[in-house]
Order: sequence, then structure tokens, then C-alpha cells
Amino acid sequence: MTIQFDEIYERRNTNSFKWDKFKERFRAKYRVEDDSDILPMWVADMDFAVPQIVIDAIKERLNHPIFGYSYISDECKEAIQQWYKRRHNWHINKDALIFHSGVVPAIATIIETFTEPGDKICISTPVYAPFFSIPKALNRQIIECDLVESKEHIYEYDFEQLEEAFKKGVKAYILCSPHNPAGVVWSKDTLKKLIQLCIKYDVLLISDEIHSDIVFEGHKHIPTMTVEGAEQAKIVACIAPTKTFNLAGLHAAIIVAENKQLRNALIQNKMAHGLDDWNVLAASGVQAVYEKGDEWLDRMIQYVSKNIDYLEQELNKLDGIRIIRPHATYLVWIDYRGTGLSENEMMDCLINKGKIALEPGTKYSEAGRGFLRINLACPFETVKDGVERFKKALL
Ligand SMILES: Cc1ncc(COP(=O)(O)O)c(C=O)c1O
Repeated sequence: MTIQFDEIYERRNTNSFKWDKFKERFRAKYRVEDDSDILPMWVADMDFAVPQIVIDAIKERLNHPIFGYSYISDECKEAIQQWYKRRHNWHINKDALIFHSGVVPAIATIIETFTEPGDKICISTPVYAPFFSIPKALNRQIIECDLVESKEHIYEYDFEQLEEAFKKGVKAYILCSPHNPAGVVWSKDTLKKLIQLCIKYDVLLISDEIHSDIVFEGHKHIPTMTVEGAEQAKIVACIAPTKTFNLAGLHAAIIVAENKQLRNALIQNKMAHGLDDWNVLAASGVQAVYEKGDEWLDRMIQYVSKNIDYLEQELNKLDGIRIIRPHATYLVWIDYRGTGLSENEMMDCLINKGKIALEPGTKYSEAGRGFLRINLACPFETVKDGVERFKKALL
């Protein structure tokens, strides 16, 4: 199989959010002198071509010229089931799979199904922005609990603080596992404590595991539902092939709801909104990667790991900058608190001196202040370019 992660594709003017939309997004918030040569390393998709098997499967489906109403085949469900068994030692019942157009809309469906306007939804910050923007848009109250930094500068839970929050009558907790933006793979012990707390306070646990396939050597993702005691908790998980194989534009995600009562309520809500399963092309591509995508994924992880090595080696030399090495995800959390720069000053330097677009830490809540997120799912030449621009920004 030829896999070419070094290849640079021109993504400008392809309706790519990452490459075409940063101009208006950044202009809305920051001073941008000249946006003609800014390198975007912000949005979490890859600059790698998808596995050839996706293209082949979609082309094959295109050979049939009718795209009428469809359903997800048993072979596709089997491929999903086998993937999670093979890669995560997680047995998922086919009946438990609820198909959705994305993890973010799936989270919205879950919140809408099991909570009421005004209810409290708890999250651990810093975290992926839709974890607070979606509940807020649905008129739910957000209770933020900050993650704390360990001696190794990786985030961990403060369970006393979380319990205090749960005592206030929290209805649901949204877990990011592995964690975006810092790439933490949560330990079995952490997940167990979280599950026990959810059981104690009757909190619905929404486990977003979209990043679970991209885990680096030495770490192992543990699906929340496989943890001891999980069967007694109210848990729904969200999984997807879209981060793993760069398929976000195909719009395909899954809610795993083993608990029949929860599942039926979710299905009813989906029906109430007329939400359908995946479209025919997405289903073909997804089945292909879940059947045959292992080698591509393993090589992609190795490639990105080397990108992270390089970033770490180069940026850690800079005064006041520290790379938080991720256990998982192609996203890297950069601590710049040591530079003494404010977020606006840092963004100004990056955009106007370095000409590089990164995500500012406060996008992930106030707890992210003093950090930046960079996306390293790109050819090594792009990483080198990004590092040079970052250095220039701080000259
Ligand atoms: C934790 C997390 N959940 C969900 C998503 C997006 O999921 P989707 O594109 O399926 O809505 C992302 C994208 O970066 C993410 O990091």
C-alpha cells in the first residue's frame, strides 16, 4: 500500500474551513495586517489525503447511478463492531449503534433528550469549545470545573472539586476522552472515579471518544463503557471515524447506547427531528476504513509522532515556551505563560510577525489562558515551516 504523508496538497480555495475561513475568523477578533501568506494550523482536520480505500469504496458506490433512500448495512455495522473489538477490546452490540451526522450534533441530541432548559451540565476545562457552546445554546447552565496540572504538567482531575459541583444538582457531565486540547489519555483509575461519582449523584455521563483511535506508543485509550462499574452508570458514548481518517466532511458519527431506555429515548428524539442515518457515500467510505484502515492509521500515528518530536525539540528551546507532549490526538498544547505575553500580544505576534494561525487557549475556556493549540496532522515540511514562523513570531 502506498501511503504518502509527505505530499503537500493545495487546500486553498477548496472550501476548506481550515485553509479558507481563518481570514474572516481571525479578522473578527484580532488585528491582521496582511493575510496573504498565513499558515493555518488551527482547525482539527488533517492535511493528509484520506486512505485510498475510502476513495475506491466511494467510487465503487458511484458506479451505481441511484442515490435513493438507504439504510446502514449489517456489513457496515459488523465493520464498526470488529474495529472496536480489535483496536479497543470493546464489544459493542450492533443494536446499541445510533448513527448521527457528527459528534457535536450528537451531543446536542443527547443533551436535548435527557435534560431540560435551565439544567446544569458540568464540564472539565480547558476543553473543546462546543462542550460549553452547545449546552449554552440549548439554554442549559454550564458548570465549569478546572482540570489541574500535575507535576509532569499534564492535566488531571480534582475529584473533590468535581464532587462539590455535582452536589449542586448536575444533570449531565461531558467527558473528553482522550482530551482535546491537551491530548491526555485518562487512566482506568480516573475513569473509574468519574463513573462512581456519576452513579452517586445520578449524573448522565456523555463520553466523547472521537480522538480515541489516535493514541501514541506507551498509552492506551480505555473506552469508558469498558471500565468496571460502568454498567451501573447512565453512560452514552460518542465515537466516529472522522478524526481518525480525516473524513469530517463526510459527516459520520455514532452514539453508543447500550442501555435500552437511554437508547429508545435517543432514537425517539432523532425521529422527532427527522434525523436520518449516514448518507450513502459516507457509509461506503466508513465501512472501508473500519474494515481495512488499520495500516494507514498505524503509519499516520507514527508520522505524527515524529512531527511532535520535532516540534518539541525546536520549541522547547525558546524562552518561556513549553510543549505539553500529548498521549493522543494530533493536537499539541503549547504553554507560553513563561513568556509573560498576554493572549492578545501572543496572537498579534503569531499572526502579524510569524504569519501562523493557531488556536488561542481561551477558546477552550478561561482555564486555557496562556496556552495555544497547534495541529500537527500535516506533512513534515509544513511542520518545519510552522516552527520557523513560530520562532519568527517571538523574535
Ligand atoms: C472532542 C471533540 N468532539 C467532537 C469534535 C467534532 O466532531 P464532529 O465533527 O463529528 O461534530 C471534535 C473536533 O475537533 C472534537 O475535538
